[in-house]
Amino acid sequence: MADSLASPQPKPMSMRARSHRLTAAILAGALSLAPPLAMAWGPQGHAIVADIAQSHLDPAAAAQVAALLGLEGDTRLDQIASWADGNRKQHPGTGPWHYVDIPLDAAGYDAARDCREADCVVAKIGHFTQVLADPRQAPAARLEALKWVVHFVADVHQPLHASDHGDKGGNTVQEVYFGRGTNLHAMWDGRIIEHALGLPLGPNYSFNHVAVGDAAAQLDAAITPAERQAWAPPGLLPGIDRAAAAWADESHALARTVAYGDLPEKPQGRWAYTYQAEAWPVVQQRLQQAGVRLAELLNEALAGR
Ligand code: ADE
Ligand code: ZN
Ligand code: ZN
Repeated sequence: MADSLASPQPKPMSMRARSHRLTAAILAGALSLAPPLAMAWGPQGHAIVADIAQSHLDPAAAAQVAALLGLEGDTRLDQIASWADGNRKQHPGTGPWHYVDIPLDAAGYDAARDCREADCVVAKIGHFTQVLADPRQAPAARLEALKWVVHFVADVHQPLHASDHGDKGGNTVQEVYFGRGTNLHAMWDGRIIEHALGLPLGPNYSFNHVAVGDAAAQLDAAITPAERQAWAPPGLLPGIDRAAAAWADESHALARTVAYGDLPEKPQGRWAYTYQAEAWPVVQQRLQQAGVRLAELLNEALAGR
């Protein structure tokens, strides 16, 4: 599984018929309100990544994380994993920090083209990792950096957070997925996870933390030592900018092959079941990879300080 994703073979994309899009858009509007622009994995995806990372922290990093989280009375990474999505008022202009728009037809990430003024998720992972790793920074600044890093390492693993097809990362591609109106981006942020786990979000983004914690533990238990080593080799911190760019490239390749590549031209019948069967294994691996990579990064950034 790791190998096939490490060097994905782009396959030709199926482009959708305009008339279908229109029909789907009308249907989506009729069945339920499509969500607003989605910015991140949903809270369940972020909690899963944080839980997996938490279980891979070494004792020194775990103590540092606990001390930083304790500044605001928190104890675990999953409690701050979606903070970055809930603070728009305090941090206006941070929307572009959550993604990088690599054109779908491009070969891969190009900082000059895709991350002008360092205003994208790849650059922000590097920047906030440096703040977190710097013991001269004030504890409050390091705690905030921790919140951004935990969130953005997850986001960059969402295929549509590293791709754009003139559609805001799939946000404007309306779909009806398992009978509910949504869009391609929101499917990858949350609907695929919610359907697989049988755990739809409740009001105000509430979710069953125990059930999601169980799902995280199962995903975590399925990670082999070889996968962990391949995904997060030691020495991540000094090359974090290159590593974050490589994670974005993996996401972009998966957007080409699966997120768009497996989207039928004319969704009909049980297409959502077929699509879900293709997408869910990819989502699971992206959550696992984000979790172990986040842990390695925190272990190195907070080692022995
Ligand atoms: N807005 C524009 N592009 C986006 C993307 N790739 N992901 C999330 N929001 C976006
Ligand atoms: Zn986000
Ligand atoms: Zn998103």
